Amino acid sequence: MISVMTTPSTHTIDIAFIGGGNMATAIIGGLLRQGRAPSSILVIDPVADQRQRLSDSLGVQTQAGPDERLSQARTVVWAVKPQQFKEAAQTYAKLTAGALHYSVMAGLRSDDIARLLSTPRVVRAMPNTPALVGQGMTGLYARPEVSTDERQAIAHMVEPTGQSVWVNQEADLDAVTALSGSGPAYVFYFIEAMVQAAQDMGLSEAQGRQLALATFGGATTLASQSSDSPSVLREKVTSKGGTTHAALTHLESNGVKTSFVAAMRAAQHRAGELGDEFGR
Ligand SMILES: NC(=O)c1ccc[n+]([C@@H]2O[C@H](COP(=O)([O-])OP(=O)(O)OC[C@H]3O[C@@H](n4cnc5c(N)ncnc54)[C@H](OP(=O)(O)O)[C@@H]3O)[C@@H](O)[C@H]2O)c1
Repeated sequence: MISVMTTPSTHTIDIAFIGGGNMATAIIGGLLRQGRAPSSILVIDPVADQRQRLSDSLGVQTQAGPDERLSQARTVVWAVKPQQFKEAAQTYAKLTAGALHYSVMAGLRSDDIARLLSTPRVVRAMPNTPALVGQGMTGLYARPEVSTDERQAIAHMVEPTGQSVWVNQEADLDAVTALSGSGPAYVFYFIEAMVQAAQDMGLSEAQGRQLALATFGGATTLASQSSDSPSVLREKVTSKGGTTHAALTHLESNGVKTSFVAAMRAAQHRAGELGDEFGR
């Protein structure tokens, strides 16, 4: 049985985070909600304010740099920026050689992570920002050397941050990145447009925001609870000659759907390019 499935003693480090920013904070919050002892979690981060915030608000152990306690960790979560990884790997690889490595770093491929850490036991994830409010979506890929128990333990660790989905080929994480990774920004963009339109039509910004947010929340809940596909749900509210029909006809004639699909392909392509760049 591996680390994240066991109840650690209060003095032994069970799981370590390299980088203690937003993503690490979201995962740590979930681990604590699952009942893990804060003293079993070590966070390494060079930023004093970051360490203070983590130890004050979450009670975890913190350190500014290399620390012998790292070698106790059976799971190491990599949550630094991708461009910071190479240098960090040189610093921490020896101390974390026996651990299962879990990376949330965007773009960095597991081959490169494994090479720079000299271990094949790597799970790579693509989370998104709604993880900060427990509504995230995480794409997961495990290298073949990762056991079934370890995969389950990682899925368990991610559970409090939202949903997760495993992909069998690592290249599919580029599509996950284009969809759920960058996806919150598309939703925010769409909400911005709705609020702008609301103001053009004489409503206040606050009214537009409330209407747009409630519509997004309500429509996505309806779509996730309905047995109808999104297309059928759309058709059900689009009477010929009606208001929704007028809006959708305008969107279609301006190629919005085609452009949206192309935009996501651009994001997928960029994810691949970043993987090449960061892996060098
Ligand atoms: N936030 C998201 O929505 C999101 C979504 C998907 C994936 N990710 C991925 O998650 C990772 C973390 O993102 P984040 O938003 O949490 O980043 P962040 O807030 O910038 O946190 C990263 C932290 O790691 C610290 N750090 C830098 N080098 C280090 C080292 N050698 N050892 C230990 N700590 C070090 C940074 O310090 P400095 O400030 O001094 O550099 C910073 O405090 C990124 O790779 C990102 O691609 C994030």
